[in-house]
Amino acid sequence: MNDGLTDLYQEVILDHSRNPRNFGPAEEADRTARGNNPLCGDRVTVFLNLDGDEISDAQFDARGCAISLASASMMTEMIKGKSVAEAKALFEKFHALVTGKNGVGASPDLAELETLSGVKNFPTRIKCATLAWHAMVAALDGADEDVKTE
Ligand code: FES
Repeated sequence: MNDGLTDLYQEVILDHSRNPRNFGPAEEADRTARGNNPLCGDRVTVFLNLDGDEISDAQFDARGCAISLASASMMTEMIKGKSVAEAKALFEKFHALVTGKNGVGASPDLAELETLSGVKNFPTRIKCATLAWHAMVAALDGADEDVKTE
């Protein structure tokens, strides 16, 4: 990756981690789940509201590193307005992206998430990037409980 792109990616991640979107506990949520990264003890809680099959609102509360905050922030922005199936499909694509699995090429709906793709070379950072996503899927599955990144 050229340095310009690396700088841009770092800027996007820093922006989201310093000014996380949809941050803070939701007063009311239809679904909630907590993610726990056992490697560092960091936690994220995801709050979702559903309108039928559509995610009408998504918020998160967290104590974590810049990667985990940025990833949670991007995720909450991206899943709003998506159906449950679409949000889960996005998780699968994101997971493949950050774990370096084959078959995931550049895709418009992953453009911002691509900024996190550098973690694929750092297994412990993959857990940071996927923490909120595991919680989101658990919340959609109705599992009001702690989920771990492994
Ligand atoms: Fe704890 Fe990244 S170091 S979530």
